[in-house]
Amino acid sequence: MIRSVVRGIGSALPRRIMKNTDFEGMVETSDEWIAQRTGIRQRHIAADDETTASLGEAAAREALDNAGLTPDDIDLIVLATSTPNNTFPATAVEIQQRLGMRHGFAFDMQAVCSGFVYAVTTADLYIRGGLARRVLIIGSETFSRILDWNDRSTCVLFGDGAGALVVEAQEGAGTIADQGVLAASLRSDGTHREKLYVDGGPSTTGTVGHLRMEGREVFKHAVGMITDVIEATFSEAGITAEDLDWFVPHQANKRIIDASAKKLGIADAKVVITVDRHGNTSAASVPLALAVAVKDGRIRKGDLVLLEAMGGGFTWGAVLLRW
Ligand code: ACO
Repeated sequence: MIRSVVRGIGSALPRRIMKNTDFEGMVETSDEWIAQRTGIRQRHIAADDETTASLGEAAAREALDNAGLTPDDIDLIVLATSTPNNTFPATAVEIQQRLGMRHGFAFDMQAVCSGFVYAVTTADLYIRGGLARRVLIIGSETFSRILDWNDRSTCVLFGDGAGALVVEAQEGAGTIADQGVLAASLRSDGTHREKLYVDGGPSTTGTVGHLRMEGREVFKHAVGMITDVIEATFSEAGITAEDLDWFVPHQANKRIIDASAKKLGIADAKVVITVDRHGNTSAASVPLALAVAVKDGRIRKGDLVLLEAMGGGFTWGAVLLRW
């Protein structure tokens, strides 16, 4: 059975770090409020010369180096983003060009914070369907560009960054012991649109717009939706929370992560947390957190890793993979 096995990982963060205290002169807030409610202490914010394409390219180059591969070895790029450089062409194609690739194909996926989980699931299907052998999966965002910097209830929550994986087709036995993507579940429900959306777009206002969120409403639904989709993934794979080595959730809010892990019975020591340093980087949050835990030696070859995300739409999903 063909499996999509991880060959390399990379990440990139903007140069500038913005601490919670840096908001204190801009909006009525405090380090204490932000840290207590969200777990966030700082985030990286892109300068004018740092874009979704440039951050995505940097993460992709690091993932290729880590895999010992070059752009020539890649036949598909899937970029998860809600903050593309332009409405079109797809920013994935711009990254393809920046990498010097004129072969293969590239496209963007838009599922907001769940984008990376959707992209891994999609890349896995292309690989198992025989349409690609090696795929660069990138999550890259510059949410700072769509924030209303006068709205204290949203501007303190988000950050910019990118993460990337190289996955490759390898033969597996078709069991849970295989390396690679083992199971996935995706969901969406547009009835929740008004709780988290951007109030502009090419076909409506002709503007880029700003992020709008009813934080309390999102919070109310998050834990139930996240745990449901994870339980579906566990049941598809025939495992329980105890079998997991690592839980790498979307990094929106530490309280949501803690409550989800507790409900699922996942021990705190198995949960990777980066929301304190990165804030919510939307589709980049899961690969950025993965990159941290791989680079510091926590996630090792053979470990069973659960990825999860929930975001605007609502969209949500989970992916189980063996590193
Ligand atoms: N500093 C100080 N006070 C603030 C701030 C701030 N930055 N922001 C809001 N407040 C105030 C509010 O105005 C409110 O004041 P009031 O009681 O006088 O009206 C009070 O704090 C409480 O506000 P709540 O919204 O009820 O606070 P809550 O405890 O719910 O925390 C938060 C807010 C952090 C946004 C939380 O609801 C949350 O994390 N929600 C989930 C958001 C999320 O995960 N979004 C990402 C989804 S992923 C994606 O796709 C983008």
